Formats: sequence, C-alpha cells, structure tokens
Amino acid sequence: MTRKIIIDTDPGQDDAVAILLALASPEDLDILGIVAVAGNVTLAQNARNALKIVELSGRSDIKVYAGCERPMRRTLVTAEHVHGETGLDGPVLPLPKQQLESQHGVDFIIETLLAHEPGTITLCTLGPLTNIAMALVKAPAIAGRIKEIVMMGGAYFEVGNITPAAEFNIYVDPDAADVVLRAGIPVVMAPLDVTHMMRSTRERLDKIRAIGNRSGQAVYEMLSFSERFDLYKYGMDGAPLHDPCVIAYLLKPELFQGRHINVVIETASELTIGMTVADYWHVTDRPHNVHFLRSGDADAFYALLTERLARLP
Ligand code: BDR
Ligand code: CA
Repeated sequence: MTRKIIIDTDPGQDDAVAILLALASPEDLDILGIVAVAGNVTLAQNARNALKIVELSGRSDIKVYAGCERPMRRTLVTAEHVHGETGLDGPVLPLPKQQLESQHGVDFIIETLLAHEPGTITLCTLGPLTNIAMALVKAPAIAGRIKEIVMMGGAYFEVGNITPAAEFNIYVDPDAADVVLRAGIPVVMAPLDVTHMMRSTRERLDKIRAIGNRSGQAVYEMLSFSERFDLYKYGMDGAPLHDPCVIAYLLKPELFQGRHINVVIETASELTIGMTVADYWHVTDRPHNVHFLRSGDADAFYALLTERLARLP
C-alpha cells in the first residue's frame, strides 16, 4: 500500500539522497510535499536545494515549502564544514524551474494533516525538528492525526557528532525535539547508531555511478564531496549515510533492528544539551515513546538505494 508522507528536510547531500530515494519510489510513497527547515545551511539555501533535487529527479509535481528560519529558542548552528557553502556542494545541479510555494511550511503541515483522515500521514524528518514542533505548538490537535514520525536524529552508543554528547539534528533545536518526543506521537528514530553502519564505501559509490544516469552521477558526486570530512574524522572505510535510512526504513523496515524505549532530550545542560538520553536497557519505568533503530543491513540498504536510483533520469 502507498504511504502518504511529508518530508521535512535541510538538504544536505544525505538529505538529497533520501529525497531521491523517496522520489524514485512512487508505488510505495506518495509525497504530499517537501518542507525545508534551517539546519545544515540557512532556510533560504535549504529550500533552494530542495527545489534543485526535485528538478534533478524530473518530478515537477512535487511542491516545496519553506518553514522556520531559526530554532525555537537557540541561535541557529549550521554545518557548512561538512556540506560546503551551498549545503549541497559536489555536483553541478540543474537550475530549478519550479518556484517555492508561498504558503509557510508549518501551515502546510497543519493544513495537510487536518485535510486527511487521521492516522494516514507519516512525517519523515531529516533535519532539526523546528517545523514539526512549531506545527504542534500552533495546532496541538494534529498530534493525534499523525500516523508516525520517522526521523533521522539522536545517538546513544555512538554518542555525538556535533558535540561529544549530541547529534546535529537534535542539537540544533533540542527544544523542538523535546516538544515532538513529548507529544504522544509514534516515533521511529534512526540515530547515529544505525546510520554509522551504512557506510558509503568506494565500491558502493562506484556502483551508484555505474548506473549511468544523471541522478546516480549526482549522488556519486555529492557523497564523494561530503564523505571527505567524515573519512578524516572517523577513519572508517566509508562515510556514514544518515538521512536515507529514514526512507529505507519506510520502504523495507525489515532491513533494520531496533527496540521500543524511552528517549528524553537534554535541554538545559550546556555540556550535554541536545543529548538523546535513551533508556536502551530499560532501567527506568519511563513510558516507551520511540522505536530506536540500533542496527541495519548495509549491503541490502545500498542494493535498495542503487536499484531505486536507477529508475530516475
Ligand atoms: C544529520 O545532520 C545533518 O548534517 C545530516 O544531513 C543529517 O541529517 C546527521 O547528524
Ligand atoms: Ca539532514
């Protein structure tokens, strides 16, 4: 059955790959819209990047919205050091013909959820959770209408990538993450623990380039750019591939293993702000609010990605 989704994102090379994976899977995923949020780079640049990805895929039917320009309380922290000045450095992408929608992304999320049957829309979040939290603040009634939120964010065993304690998406807007995790919505979390297993080794990237279409070439060039920072940082055989785990989970949940646990966000301590305090061993009786993915089948993940990218122009 086709699942209705909204993608909330700050593209970002790995966001771009996630969006392409979703765009290449219309029989599984009905994308109601893509909403940009401030994160890897500014909102304006992220929105432009989202339009470029849609253009690359040839899916001009997909609408793109801009959401919030900054986190709820904190100053925006960006990641040009990973993603480059544009947030999407690497390939030369086609200039978008499509315009950004004029409606605010938060209002689009609210209106879309209210216009559909409750329990039919999944939110896929690939960046900071500002837009989702703001939608919940503006219209709390939407909480009960969301089927599920599948998010890239957080870490437990792999701890932090932007501070020793925090993963980037949660760190940028911990208050938003806190609002979302307390809203009683079913949440699937793809933390660094699983995304660090999905490494873009040379062999895997070469297979993507060998598809021979412009989307495969763009993915190859994007990931070859963004991996440089991570290869140096982690000394691994390939860079982690984060955001596509969200879409791969929707397409083939059997590729992933996880546990129902409680996760709380640290919002106060300067030292550990943005930490996802994950009760992985069930040492508290706090209610389970997250399905926390801990591992996944990297070969099957890359096989799925390569097969789907081959369907695009
Ligand atoms: C997350 O941070 C961003 O830089 C990536 O796009 C991903 O969503 C990984 O921590
Ligand atoms: Ca992202």
